[in-house]
Amino acid sequence: AKSYNITLLPGDGIGPEVISVAKNVLNLAGSIEGIEFKFNEKLMGGAALDATGVPLPEETLTAAKQSDAVLLGAIGGYKWDKNEKHLKPETGLLQLREGLKVFANLRPASVLPQLVDASTLKKEVAEGVDLMVVRELTGGIYFGKPRGFGTDENGNEIGFNTEVYAAYEIDRIARIAFETARKRSGKLCSVDKANVLEASMLWRKRVIAIAAEYPDVELSHMYVDNAAMQLVRNPKQFDTIVTNNIFGDILSDEASMITGSIGMLPSASLSSSGPGLFEPIHGSAPDIAGQDKANPLATILSAAMLLKYGLGEVAAAERIELAVLDALNRGFRTGDIYSDGNKLVGCKEMGEEVLKSVDTKKVVS
Ligand code: NAD
Ligand code: IPM
Ligand code: MN
Repeated sequence: AKSYNITLLPGDGIGPEVISVAKNVLNLAGSIEGIEFKFNEKLMGGAALDATGVPLPEETLTAAKQSDAVLLGAIGGYKWDKNEKHLKPETGLLQLREGLKVFANLRPASVLPQLVDASTLKKEVAEGVDLMVVRELTGGIYFGKPRGFGTDENGNEIGFNTEVYAAYEIDRIARIAFETARKRSGKLCSVDKANVLEASMLWRKRVIAIAAEYPDVELSHMYVDNAAMQLVRNPKQFDTIVTNNIFGDILSDEASMITGSIGMLPSASLSSSGPGLFEPIHGSAPDIAGQDKANPLATILSAAMLLKYGLGEVAAAERIELAVLDALNRGFRTGDIYSDGNKLVGCKEMGEEVLKSVDTKKVVS
């Protein structure tokens, strides 16, 4: 049988709860499809800070680099919020993304027919939405220098960051976005703030230059403030969106709510050669952690993306995606996507129901 090494990073808050469910789903889908997984669980985020004093121990990064793919739950929590920057769980996550060189972050947001009622938007606005946010993940203001704290010329305390992009960073994420759009509906919208920011002016210039390689893709541009508004006005106008690190962070959380819940959205972070990093777009949800309330579907769907984009195991990936739809068809809902008439379940029970569907492959669409 085929065998893969998977680094599991449960992290903090609801992270361990959703990872434990996703691990079982991976195991079962794999065993049915003749794939074996060797899981290597490592410390990350606040859990790593408490145990080792750093948010990304070297051992964790080394294991991640040596594995075939990495599945992460979530990191962060109140306990570490006041830590110095280099001792924050979030810093560990940025170090992991940088260390794995996963510059291309794919965040699909589609409104499932089963969940139209869970959207806060009107049915006719939400129905049929199917978009993909391609977020640049290892550049921009998250990593730009100079950054820090200091004092200005008048003695005022300041904090500062730098939004910076090199042409090569824009070119490579643009190519991923054009390739993605080409496989979907052939429409790509580049979102920037080129009316104000130099980094965005270069962004737009390079995206236009790369477009020459993809004459079959229809390219448009939009300012990020307008894009935030258009996403709730008429989300169906979008197919593939490409944008920088911080705009992609914000717009993908916004897009998640169109689909019903942030608890539904998976992501894949890809490099040009090494292992990919797969994680739900949500955080550690400290407000519901430890209560068996978290929606595990974003992490289960991230495991499906791991199979598809990370390992090329498309059959196993599709088995998991169909199992999620089947569990929803059978009426099971966690609190975040619940509406009248459904069966309210917790994280574990939702996982059990998905497992049943993986097993039978019974699919009612
Ligand atoms: P969050 O995504 O953790 O939570 C926002 C809201 O969504 C909360 O009300 C939460 O209960 C709900 N929610 C999130 N995921 C859910 C799920 N699977 N099922 C049901 N409800 C869910 O964002 P936040 O509250 O701004 O951040 C909390 C912590 O998580 C912070 O420390 C932050 O830095 C961190 N964070 C980590 C990641 C990551 O690990 N990739 C992503 C975002 C935030
Ligand atoms: C995300 C998160 C992270 C980000 C934080 C926790 C560093 O919000 O994965 O979307 O801003 O990228
Ligand atoms: Mn985010």
